[in-house]
Amino acid sequence: MSTAVAEASTPESDEVQSFLVTFIVRRFDPEVDEEPRWVDYDVELYSTDRVLDALHKIKWEVDGSLSFRRSCAHGICGSDAMRINGRNRLACKTLIKDLDISQPIYVEAIKGLPLEKDLIVDMEPFFASYREVQPFLQPSSPTTPGKERTQSIKDRAIFDDTTKCILCAACTSSCPVFWTDGQYFGPAAIVNAHRFIFDSRDDAANVRLDILNDKEGVWRCRTTFNCSEACPRGIEVTKAIAEVKQAVLRGGR
Ligand code: SF4
Ligand code: FES
Repeated sequence: MSTAVAEASTPESDEVQSFLVTFIVRRFDPEVDEEPRWVDYDVELYSTDRVLDALHKIKWEVDGSLSFRRSCAHGICGSDAMRINGRNRLACKTLIKDLDISQPIYVEAIKGLPLEKDLIVDMEPFFASYREVQPFLQPSSPTTPGKERTQSIKDRAIFDDTTKCILCAACTSSCPVFWTDGQYFGPAAIVNAHRFIFDSRDDAANVRLDILNDKEGVWRCRTTFNCSEACPRGIEVTKAIAEVKQAVLRGGR
């Protein structure tokens, strides 16, 4: 289980050095296990590899039953958020060279959502909150045929940050309020409400503000900043939540 450096190349050679890295993965098979269990794997990796590459190696070369989600492998689809050394990250964006490989690397599913298998959680409660804030443009007037719905650069900039969300759930599942109260909308739903509340082309801001002025809405946020720290897209999640709170108090954007 200890982590050791493997002699894969001589110092003189141009070969890239490989390392033997220990991963301890929290496994759970609902058909067999009553409780999750931690399983060790030693994996040979390069510093340019990512945690996702390590999981692929385990799955393809050691144990094909290891289950996790991934799609794009490039930080776009948001499907591989997981807890890596106790912190929510995307496995495909976490480079081995940025982790302390003198110690084992712990990998487990994100918290606060029902565990289905190994690193896979049931995302339905997360997407239910997302759908509830009506994350789509709702203008009150129809478009003129052949014309775009224009917007100034200044107005577009107001919600630019929250357009970057990839719905990975890293923020929501790092929130202690969400862990203890699964009814809380959570940061990601509020971020996606923000994206439309502050869009000058949209006319349903007050509907969304009413929805979020609920006992499970924005007022449950305790400003712990876990969400902003977890976001792989660098979105200022806590700031977005604060702006929605202010809009609720103003009674409009
Ligand atoms: S705000 Fe960031 S962490 Fe939260 S779901 Fe969107 S991309 Fe993921
Ligand atoms: S696999 Fe798509 S974001 Fe990581």
